[in-house]
Order: sequence, then C-alpha cells, then structure tokens
Amino acid sequence: MYIHSIMSKLNDKKEKLEQKIGECLGLEIAAQKAVQELSSKGLLDKRGMLSKLKNMQKEAGNHQSKLEQIVQKLSGSLDSATINEAAQETELKATEMMNTYLGDDPDSSEAIEFLCLAEGGEVTHYEVLAALAKKVKFNSKQLPNTISSILKQEQRHLKLCIKLAKEAAAY
Ligand SMILES: [Fe+2]
Repeated sequence: MYIHSIMSKLNDKKEKLEQKIGECLGLEIAAQKAVQELSSKGLLDKRGMLSKLKNMQKEAGNHQSKLEQIVQKLSGSLDSATINEAAQETELKATEMMNTYLGDDPDSSEAIEFLCLAEGGEVTHYEVLAALAKKVKFNSKQLPNTISSILKQEQRHLKLCIKLAKEAAAY
C-alpha cells in the first residue's frame, strides 16, 4: 500500500513534468508562428522592431530544438506521446488566444502587446517546469540545465517585448 502510493506519486510527478514540457514546446512553436503571422500582416515593422523580433523567433526555434533533443535523449524515462499531445493542444490554445485578442483589425500596439502576453506565458511555464524538474530525479543534469538556460533567454524576450510595446504606444 505504502510503496504503491509512493510509486503513484512519482508517476504523477513525471506526468506533470511531461505535460509541462509539452506546454513549453507548444508555446515555442506558437511564438514562432505568431511572429510569422504578425509580421506578414505588416504589424511589426515599426522602428527596427522586426529584426529584433525575428531574432527572438530564431531563439524560439532553438528552444524548440533543444527541448525536442532532450525529450529524445530521455525517451527511456519520458513519454513522448504525452509531451506531443500537450504541445499540440497548447499550440492550438495559444493560436486561439491570439485570434481572440487581436480581433478583426489589430494595430501594431495590439500585436506587440500580444507578444508580451505570449512571452509572459513562456516565462511562467519555464519557471514552473524548472520547479517540476527539480522534483523528478534523472541521472543527468541536462534537463534542469537546459531549462534554466532557456528561462534566462525567455526573461530577455519578455523584457524586449515590453520595451517594444512601450515604444509602439508612445510612437
Ligand atoms: Fe520566447
């Protein structure tokens, strides 16, 4: 009974971790698509904004590959089906949120403010993922290390978007 309850708690933690990795992955994919879509609508080309956001988009692509690589590497311990399912669901939700937020006729300020929300969501999810990864012990430090390096970059993404949102509003 006791061992059973320890085992089910461990599985529960592992499943939460998988779910959260999937959510982070989905947010990274959605973030790249958001920059793509908003820039194709001409909403991100004020005052050198686009090159900074294209760089952010590239970094989101790197985060996506880093997460995918680590999931591959830990495929003995992590269930990739759970992760992929969470990623797809999150990507879909993020896209729906963007459409709802922007409405029919968005301007540049609304576009960049949506990116603030998206980056804020990423920071939150990686903070939680970092906390979960500490609770599930793996033999390698690679997962927590990868998460904390991505988290630092996400904090910079959020700062950048806030700065650009202020500039767009004051322009
Ligand atoms: Fe980001």
